[in-house]
Amino acid sequence: MSQHFLDQFLFVALPYVCLFTFLLVTVARYRMQSYSYSSLSSQFLENEHHFWAVVPFHYGILVVTAGHLIAFLIPRTILAWNSHPLRLYVLEVSALAFGLLTLVGLVGVIVRRFSNTKIRTVTTFTDWLLFAMLLLQTISGISVALFHPWGSAWFASNLSPYLWSIFKLGPDVTYVAAMPHMVKFHIVLAFLTIGFFPFTRLVHVLVIPNPFLWRKPQVVRWYRKR
Ligand code: HEM
Repeated sequence: MSQHFLDQFLFVALPYVCLFTFLLVTVARYRMQSYSYSSLSSQFLENEHHFWAVVPFHYGILVVTAGHLIAFLIPRTILAWNSHPLRLYVLEVSALAFGLLTLVGLVGVIVRRFSNTKIRTVTTFTDWLLFAMLLLQTISGISVALFHPWGSAWFASNLSPYLWSIFKLGPDVTYVAAMPHMVKFHIVLAFLTIGFFPFTRLVHVLVIPNPFLWRKPQVVRWYRKR
């Protein structure tokens, strides 16, 4: 298979298949099985290691995801920010720190699910596959940060235009064709994860219980000594 054909497959066909799967199945699942839109908390089954796994993982992944989104949406601002080396280093070190926090939390999540019999019983094959994908995605992201600096700069100058070209229905693989293998792997796995998203517990990301922020506090009365 020629390199050109492979690039077209991985960076044009695959992204569209994954994005359409994401859109269609996310809506279909919400309409047909809205009660399955949940992270299915396992805190009641195990609460000792729960906090130290799930919380660092979420702080890490939310900041890292927000960072990708910001670089995608306002690449010029990121490039302007990076024009002073000190600001570039602050951005890169912070991003790496949150990437490592994600990894520590995710390893905690996986070890907790594996080592506790009750939790292992309620963990499905889809969960394990998702954890493996997230783990590979986090490790490849950290490797990219360490071995292909400075990601915040070349993401803004190359990957943001590539992603926009996908969304504008005029895919342009020239932005990614010459990227290192690790970067290409990170992009392909990101699209695969987006395609897999609606089949997994990741759908909980779309149903954050925002009303908790403004609804009236709930009064709980105990009729016996706690
Ligand atoms: C949008 C904000 C988010 C909120 C409010 C949120 C909330 C939650 C909650 C409440 C749990 C259940 C924890 C438990 O009690 O067991 C959970 C689990 C989980 N979340 Fe999120 N989440 C968010 C974003 C994300 C993102 C962006 C990802 C990954 C891309 C993610 C991946 C996971 C995974 C893999 C679990 C399962 C952990 C386990 O139970 O072993 N979450 N999330």
